[in-house]
Amino acid sequence: MRRGSDSLAVITSEHGTRLVRRGRRFGRISILQFWLWLFLFATIFLLYFLFFGLKLLSPATIEESPDISVKEQSSPSDGGSKHRKKYFPCEVGLKESVDYVMEPRQVMNFTQFSLHYIDQEEEPSTSRIYEPRFGGHPTLEEREQSFYAEIKLFIADLSEVSSCIFGSSDFLRRPTSRKVSDFSKKTVCFVMFVDEQTLAKISSEGHVPDDTGHVGLWKIVIVKNLPYADMRRTGKVPKLLSHRLFPSSWYSIWLDSKMRLNTDPMQIIEYFLWRTESEFAISNHYDRHCVWEEVLQNKRLHKYNHTAIDEQFTFYQSDGLTKFDSSDPNTPLPSYVPEGSFIVRAHTPISNLFSCLWFNEVDRFTSRDQLSFAYTYLKLRRMNPDRPFYLNMFKDCERRALAKLFRHRAELSTPPVT
Ligand SMILES: *[C@@H]1O[C@H](CO)[C@@H](O)[C@H](O)[C@H]1NC(C)=O
Ligand SMILES: *[C@@H]1O[C@H](CO)[C@@H](O)[C@H](O)[C@H]1NC(C)=O
Repeated sequence: MRRGSDSLAVITSEHGTRLVRRGRRFGRISILQFWLWLFLFATIFLLYFLFFGLKLLSPATIEESPDISVKEQSSPSDGGSKHRKKYFPCEVGLKESVDYVMEPRQVMNFTQFSLHYIDQEEEPSTSRIYEPRFGGHPTLEEREQSFYAEIKLFIADLSEVSSCIFGSSDFLRRPTSRKVSDFSKKTVCFVMFVDEQTLAKISSEGHVPDDTGHVGLWKIVIVKNLPYADMRRTGKVPKLLSHRLFPSSWYSIWLDSKMRLNTDPMQIIEYFLWRTESEFAISNHYDRHCVWEEVLQNKRLHKYNHTAIDEQFTFYQSDGLTKFDSSDPNTPLPSYVPEGSFIVRAHTPISNLFSCLWFNEVDRFTSRDQLSFAYTYLKLRRMNPDRPFYLNMFKDCERRALAKLFRHRAELSTPPVT
């Protein structure tokens, strides 16, 4: 049943040993040990899309355009009036400081199992036209199986991508340095992925990486040989597959490039994961809770090919996706639509599995990950009733309190299509 759980057990007991050892020696940990330890920890990364610099882009291809701005576009319920809703941050009770990296025991006590990744897809001998794809060519049957927590299927040749991501560059929205503790500066990796075109663009704007490849706190990583021609899909690789890009990190925080981090990462991990005993935290959408509404909004703003949206949506409905019902006290999520620009994760098996499955949906269907989030979550839960997955879906106003939102570069020059 639990194939490969042996190797996992080793990891678990390693954690256990480390925890015990650290407990005993906490008073005399050297700076070096600390370093080794902590370098495992949180990573924050971002992809800055090359096309932000391109004015040629039609609005239809702009990723997550202006529907997430502090001054919101009128929502459908406004009947198209000029009225603009305003969304404000809310109080977030962060700890004063989190100058330690100690996770409560029970937080690490999540379901353990082993994930298998398929790095190399076998070339089908029958098919004459075989084109390697980043996401492989899983059949619907293989896709179905991949939801079971016993057998893991995920197809991606990530070794290629990671071997291709080196270099240096820079970014516009550096984390607010004074809000980040010295502890986190030493122990958290801030990684920003850019492609070469973006690098040239932001360098020309004065964000030139220093000798170590940093711009402010960001370590700039240049990505070459992008896996998809569609930049929106490419952006989902670092967004959803952090555990594959940073396999030795225990935690990661994803922040869209349109946001500036205003908070210490360790405080974020403490608040969203440890305190709630969660393995995955994501904010809900400030306005929409039902995938039905999200589909309409995506079409209204021409976020994506309508036919492709319909295909995905029809598939989900035929596989049991139902409307969000806020009056149902047993609803498994506070909302079916995430505001996915800020994601906090512990790299536990089921959290990693969920991320992979979510990415596979983005690979197979549209790259609009808000459309596939709830479906993936519900299906994963449905198919693994015995394996809990502690997902913390928090309010978007909390996200606003921690990271300031800016508009995409393209939005400043291109008015949104309505
Ligand atoms: C870990 O979880 C299991 C099952 O949920 C529980 O029985 C056990 O007591 C927990 N262990 C700790 C140390 O919390
Ligand atoms: C839209 O998606 C459909 C189905 O995926 C596809 O057949 C069609 O070629 C796409 N249209 C455009 C303009 O890309």
